[in-house]
Amino acid sequence: MSKSEMVIEGERYKSSDRVRADRTDMLYKDIPEGETLVEIKDLNVVYRSDDKTTVAVDDLSFDIKKGELVSIVGPSGCGKSTILRCISGLLQPTSGEIRIGGNLCTTAGSDRGMVFQDFALFPWRSVRQNVEFGLEIAGVPKEERRERSDRYLKAMGLLDFADSRIHELSGGMKQRVGIARAMIMHPAVILMDEPFGALDAQTRNILQESLVKVLKNSSRTIVFVTHSVDEALFLSDRVLVLSKRPATVHTIVNVPGDRPRDRGSPEFIKLRKEILSYLESQNTM
Ligand SMILES: Nc1ncnc2c1ncn2[C@@H]1O[C@H](COP(=O)(O)OP(=O)(O)O)[C@@H](O)[C@H]1O
Ligand SMILES: [Mg+2]
Repeated sequence: MSKSEMVIEGERYKSSDRVRADRTDMLYKDIPEGETLVEIKDLNVVYRSDDKTTVAVDDLSFDIKKGELVSIVGPSGCGKSTILRCISGLLQPTSGEIRIGGNLCTTAGSDRGMVFQDFALFPWRSVRQNVEFGLEIAGVPKEERRERSDRYLKAMGLLDFADSRIHELSGGMKQRVGIARAMIMHPAVILMDEPFGALDAQTRNILQESLVKVLKNSSRTIVFVTHSVDEALFLSDRVLVLSKRPATVHTIVNVPGDRPRDRGSPEFIKLRKEILSYLESQNTM
């Protein structure tokens, strides 16, 4: 390998490369792990239609550190997806700002990758073609695409299904494709909106474990929206607990212990109970 090349997490880059769409985490390589990467400051979102005004988010501020997985939990309809859409740049806040690596984010960009609850895969493409989609758009050569998709297909247990069509897969497999498709792009931040929400409880647990495994080998910055307190505590470094709508920060929980976590440990059970009892108090239904 020539001097001008480097290998990060098994993938090869030329140091002369300008920031590439398939590796936007390089944009922030000078920010150390554990330092603030995403800043959300005084975020307000008001939805207005002819006959209705909905205040979804009220003066919300929090930071996300590089390399951490932060979950957002809160009562249904409190504004979780709204916050995520603002970070993605798909929705403009009514006021307040979001910065990534100090840069104001005002539009969608390749430094943020999304994983959706309904998978949002291309049914006419094979599993591998779905996973490679972003690399293709970014103009990554075929051989490198193949090398990289092999790694992520393997990490997500999909290698045997590389040539399958999407309709041949179970829900859990589809979401594995969704995660591989996001991770292969090495976005600076991965945004997940209830990615396991459509899966049965057992499949959900298996996918949580797969995600933990992938993250062991590959540090990522992830914002994970879920309505499951159990899932949030199992996966996250920190859990942001929101109030009922309009969303404000009730508390931020630092989850102790390394992953994979023991859901039956006294600490885990105690935290789950505390958060659940707060969420119940916020339930207006
Ligand atoms: N596009 C929209 N137009 C009007 N109201 C919306 C829109 N999207 C969401 N809302 C409202 O904003 C509130 C927060 O929604 P959302 O962020 O989807 O909540 P969550 O993801 O926590 O369930 C809800 O009352 C919802 O009805
Ligand atoms: Mg939502």
